[in-house]
Amino acid sequence: MRIFSGIQPTGRKHLGNYIGAILQYVEGQDRGDPAIYCIVDLHATTVGYDPAELRRRSQETAALLVAAGLDPERCVLFRQGDVPEHTELSWLLSSVTPLGALNRMHQFRDKSVAQRELVSAGLLFYPVLMAADVLAYRAHEVPVGEDQREHIELMRDVAETFNKRFGETLVVPEGNIPKVGARVRDLQEPERKMSTTGGTPKGTVYVDEDPASIVKKFKSAQTDSGNEIVRREDKPGIANLIEILAIVRGTTPEEIEREYSGPQRYGDFKTTVGEEVAASLAPVRERYAELQGDTATIEDILAAGAQKAQALAAPVVADVREAMGVGPALRRSVGGAA
Ligand code: TYM
Repeated sequence: MRIFSGIQPTGRKHLGNYIGAILQYVEGQDRGDPAIYCIVDLHATTVGYDPAELRRRSQETAALLVAAGLDPERCVLFRQGDVPEHTELSWLLSSVTPLGALNRMHQFRDKSVAQRELVSAGLLFYPVLMAADVLAYRAHEVPVGEDQREHIELMRDVAETFNKRFGETLVVPEGNIPKVGARVRDLQEPERKMSTTGGTPKGTVYVDEDPASIVKKFKSAQTDSGNEIVRREDKPGIANLIEILAIVRGTTPEEIEREYSGPQRYGDFKTTVGEEVAASLAPVRERYAELQGDTATIEDILAAGAQKAQALAAPVVADVREAMGVGPALRRSVGGAA
């Protein structure tokens, strides 16, 4: 089972990234054959950005993933821009991607409205590069949060269309969206997902945030005025806290509801969740602080990862070129004679 996932190096990583994705990456690294994790710096160039900051954030994201438990010996951890097969494949795949489908993508619509200056062609093309990320490795499983569902559908369609048009070449991947924690909500506005760009500052908890500040944010989380700890449509704030606590304790939301059945004080519950989240993130924060400034080590890890990634992606891209009739034919006679 080959696993692939990607994470953007923009902004500080938050509890949504941690619960919806990073914990899945860590779990997958011994199941994956191999598990491949990519810091998608090229995707981050599709909206306004600062080049020096992009490089720094890419290194920081790598450091955070290692601090969270990714072991570069047990998985392939690399930066997208270091492996040119991704960009080549994205061009090749663009010929089997309908423009209409790209135009309809929700993230494209939302992000293009949010752009104050240029709406780049790269923003429209974003899902094709993402399809290339996964398809270049013939990955079977893609662990992601709920907000990536549409992108997964598109890459599946692209792979299927390619195989129909040019013959069985690519693996059609499956998304792995967790049942619990796939959409961690903003603590202040629980109808929205937690996000560095779309969320509220007080409602967004960062993986590297100091424990006292994490507890404070949970204490001021928005809930209704009831006293039941249950997941109900009309209780998005409490439901969010239940799911977060279940993940942190390694149990189920049902178990949390059982434990807190009967009237409860929401204030106490919020404090409990905040303290347990802070405690579970504390070791990640400490390891991150040690690693963060060590750019030489991080770059070494990324360079070794890129080598492994390229060795996996190059033969797949060669097969795609061959199937599409691009460049000279692959087959050469044994012994190197023409
Ligand atoms: P990105 O960088 O926005 O997010 C990284 C991962 O975090 C998940 N996530 C969440 N999960 C639960 N609750 C939330 N509030 C929350 N916010 C974010 C995301 O679903 C994601 O899994 N397009 C991708 C990056 C990408 C990629 C890929 C992913 C590029 N190529 C190939 C998978 C495979 C993105 O922007 O993720």
